[in-house]
Amino acid sequence: MIPEQSASQITVSEDPLCTEPRLTSFDSSLTPVDLFFVRHHFSDVPKLDAARWTLSVEGEVENSLTISYRELLKLPQRTLPVTFECAGNSRVAMSPPVEGVFWGNGAVGNAEWTGVSLRDVLNQAGIKDTVKEIFFEGADSGEEEEQGLKFDLSYSRSLPLDKAMHPDTLLAIRMNGESITPDHGYPIRLIVPGWYGVASVKWLIKIRALDRPYQGFFQTRRYVIINEGADKEHPPKPLTAMPVKSLITQPRRGKVFFPGETVIQGFAWSGEAKIKRVDFSTDG
Ligand code: MTE
Repeated sequence: MIPEQSASQITVSEDPLCTEPRLTSFDSSLTPVDLFFVRHHFSDVPKLDAARWTLSVEGEVENSLTISYRELLKLPQRTLPVTFECAGNSRVAMSPPVEGVFWGNGAVGNAEWTGVSLRDVLNQAGIKDTVKEIFFEGADSGEEEEQGLKFDLSYSRSLPLDKAMHPDTLLAIRMNGESITPDHGYPIRLIVPGWYGVASVKWLIKIRALDRPYQGFFQTRRYVIINEGADKEHPPKPLTAMPVKSLITQPRRGKVFFPGETVIQGFAWSGEAKIKRVDFSTDG
């Protein structure tokens, strides 16, 4: 199916909704909210009301907690620019073809996220020494199918304890200075800097401290790296940090040039290291 063209975004999938901006509309390093790609896994966007929203923190903790939106707002907040990309971005260019949402190159964005360090909340709950991972659940749910089997699930993922305790891992309240929009996880979403977008759980409602690795659908069956020769002893590994990548946004593909100077514009990013230099090649 040919994606529908909207004013600012192209609909790559209608149900679940997945949209991406045209690359030529990326003209600043901060992605405006209306140009930020959207990746949902289920049909319905949860209808959450900040006044009634609560986040439970449970599992291997000294004190289970339930935090309200107002209580969260009282904790110290920080603002960080964070780039994240959907792991399926650029699927259009994958060879051999890979099954999944047929993204072009626009499923990446860089926004300023404001929120509370997750570790401040985890410290309030008191993480036990036995904890290995922290599990996160969103309020969205639906059905997934694999090899003829149907799974009823909510969207959930986990992080290793050290990443969860990193001060930059946020319970985000604002995106580019405004309340997060429903499509991007209102009222609160997790933001995991440096990692693929899959880790940044939207519509967050539950956190659980685990003493063993989480084995859920989106952790072990989707968004995993399957190495050659994978077997029971070497199972697929959940995707984590983004590698180095770049994108040319101007000129657009197919543009005709006349002799003279041309501006080449684009972005380069990487999950856990700074970009030192960008080169480009004109001869393929
Ligand atoms: N969180 C929930 N609850 N449900 C989802 O479908 N999609 C994940 C992640 N968090 C998802 C989610 C994926 S795969 C990506 S790439 C990002 O959210 C997309 O975030 P965005 O829609 O704000 O761009």
